[in-house]
Amino acid sequence: MDATHATALPGQDAAHPDGQYGSAAKWFHWITVGLIAIALPTGFVIKFITGDGDGAYKMGFYAIHESAGLTILFASIARILWKARHPAPPHPAGLPPIMRIAATATHHGLYALLILQPLMGFFATNAWGFPMRDQTAYLGFIHLPKFMEASEGLATALSWGHTIGGYLFVVLLAAHIGAAIFHHAIRRDGTLMRML
Ligand code: HEM
Repeated sequence: MDATHATALPGQDAAHPDGQYGSAAKWFHWITVGLIAIALPTGFVIKFITGDGDGAYKMGFYAIHESAGLTILFASIARILWKARHPAPPHPAGLPPIMRIAATATHHGLYALLILQPLMGFFATNAWGFPMRDQTAYLGFIHLPKFMEASEGLATALSWGHTIGGYLFVVLLAAHIGAAIFHHAIRRDGTLMRML
């Protein structure tokens, strides 16, 4: 502990001298990791899946992708509301300003994508005229209403946004995971341990 952090930090102990995230924040984080690990790869491969006669196989990919994606939206809204009342522990006192700025920018970008990406995907499917019902019902059994009439112009714009969002996700996740590895293996400053 130093002069900047004269009082105890949240979750501070011998293994976490700079404090740590609370258990709810950790659950939100790692559940999101699992869901992204489903939504991102399925999103990228769907267009390469050729039909199997009735298209059920490809539909299965849409169903998994869309349900995982929409769950990310719900989990992220809950997470942001939770975070508003339970702020993250402060950056470690010794973290250089450039790293603070980079971390904050990456985290904000990821939060923005966690909300915008599923929203664009969701409204794109509606605008294409394929709401989440029947073969793509939410979680396989929750048939959502049609939110709008089909509109090709809107659908095309949203799909473009969703594609760009997918690549932005890859860039920000690479920065995020790269930074976690850098902190853990090179800087050895305990940053990764704050989320474990
Ligand atoms: C955080 C959540 C999500 C992520 C990370 C994600 C990611 C992606 C990615 C990377 C692609 C491929 C884009 C391309 O190559 O052009 C994609 C395609 C797609 N996504 Fe999502 N997505 C998410 C949520 C959703 C949701 C909630 C829906 C709908 C309810 C959805 C519907 C679609 C559809 C219909 C495609 C086009 C697949 C095709 O026919 O090629 N996505 N998504």
